[in-house]
This record gives sequence, structure tokens and C-alpha cells, in this order.
Amino acid sequence: MKLPQSVYLFSRYPGIGKTHLAVAALKEAARKIAEEEYKNRETVRQGIFPYHPNWAPVYFLNVSEGLMDIKNDIDGGEKDFSQSQIYQNVKLSRLVVLDDIFNEIRFSPFVLETLLYWVDYRLKNNLATIFTSNHNFEIFLSEETTPVTNERLRAVARNTASRVSKMVQGYKLALDSSPQTDYRRKY
Ligand SMILES: Nc1ncnc2c1ncn2[C@@H]1O[C@H](COP(=O)(O)OP(=O)(O)OP(=O)(O)O)[C@@H](O)[C@H]1O
Ligand SMILES: [Mg+2]
Repeated sequence: MKLPQSVYLFSRYPGIGKTHLAVAALKEAARKIAEEEYKNRETVRQGIFPYHPNWAPVYFLNVSEGLMDIKNDIDGGEKDFSQSQIYQNVKLSRLVVLDDIFNEIRFSPFVLETLLYWVDYRLKNNLATIFTSNHNFEIFLSEETTPVTNERLRAVARNTASRVSKMVQGYKLALDSSPQTDYRRKY
């Protein structure tokens, strides 16, 4: 794999290990980045922390929870959402996991527009993203299969999906799942 490379992991049924795999990759990347920084920066070797407190070279976001947090951050305040730290981390981190993307029950303007901003920025800047989902993004590409009812939002979702498609070319992995492949522990 030539880095940076984005990957789309999806399965119809839950519990097959998509998030597990994405987090493992994120941890590995964090370790590599830490080693790189240690090697290249004298200050780091001296035990000094030369980064901004918001420095996040890798970042994990569960999409629906994260979007809700951003909304709560801005609601009632003067802040616009692009000033939210979560928003900025997803935009700028070297490696981001967008967990459970497109799993929303309701595709609101806020959800779809924020996803488009992120994906568009990361595609243009060649930043790697690992997506996990229970839906194939290709459903948004065709009028026949899109779950989005509003015409304008349908276009936003289609634009997002076509950018995701470009980002993950050759690395769209469908995991073979069934109701029997749920690894989640049952109590
Ligand atoms: N190959 C595996 N062997 C054993 N346990 C695993 C394996 N893969 C994942 N698990 C465990 O199974 C549980 C479910 O995995 P995970 O949350 O990654 O699934 P998922 O595919 O992301 O599910 P969802 O579609 O609900 O998001 C976790 O507790 C995880 O640690
Ligand atoms: Mg998951």
C-alpha cells in the first residue's frame, strides 16, 4: 500500500471487527509518528513537549456522536462550527478514522454538509481516512438507491460519496458478515 491511502471498511451486519481493525491501524500509525518525531526532534528526545496542546496527528471520531458533540459545542454560543476543535481535528489530522459513517437514521443538512466539507478537504489535501460503515457509500451515487429524500441534500450526499470513492479506490473492503459473525460479547 502506497501511503497515504484511505480505506473503506463495510459490512452489512454489525460486530465483524471493522472498528477493531480501524483502531488497530490508528494505534500503529500513532506509534510510527511518535518514533518519527523522537528521531527528528532534539526537543522531544530531551523530554520537552514542543507541540500545541491541540496537536492531534491521529484522530478517531464516531460520526454521529462527534457531530452531536460539535452541535452541542456551538448551540447557544457565538461560535460557528468550523471553530470546534473536533471539526478541526477531523479536517487536519494526518490519519482519521470516521467510524460508522452513513449509518445515520436521518440525514440532516448539518450531517451531510459537514461530511462533505471534511471529505472534500481531506481528498484535496491527500490526507488518509479510514471509514467504517454498515452501508456501501455507492447507494448515494444513484437516484434509485439513495436514502436521501430532499433533492438538494441528495446532491450533497452524492458529492460526498463520489469523493469517498476517489479516496478509497482499490481499498474498499466488504467484510463478509451474517447474524452469526457478531464478535460482540453476549451477556
Ligand atoms: N477477529 C476478532 N476476533 C475476536 N474478537 C473480535 C474480532 N474482531 C472484533 N472483535 C471484537 O468484537 C467486538 C465487535 O467488533 P467491532 O466493534 O470492531 O465491530 P464492528 O464491525 O465495528 O461493528 P459495528 O458494525 O456494530 O460498528 C469488539 O469487542 C471487538 O474487540
Ligand atoms: Mg464499529
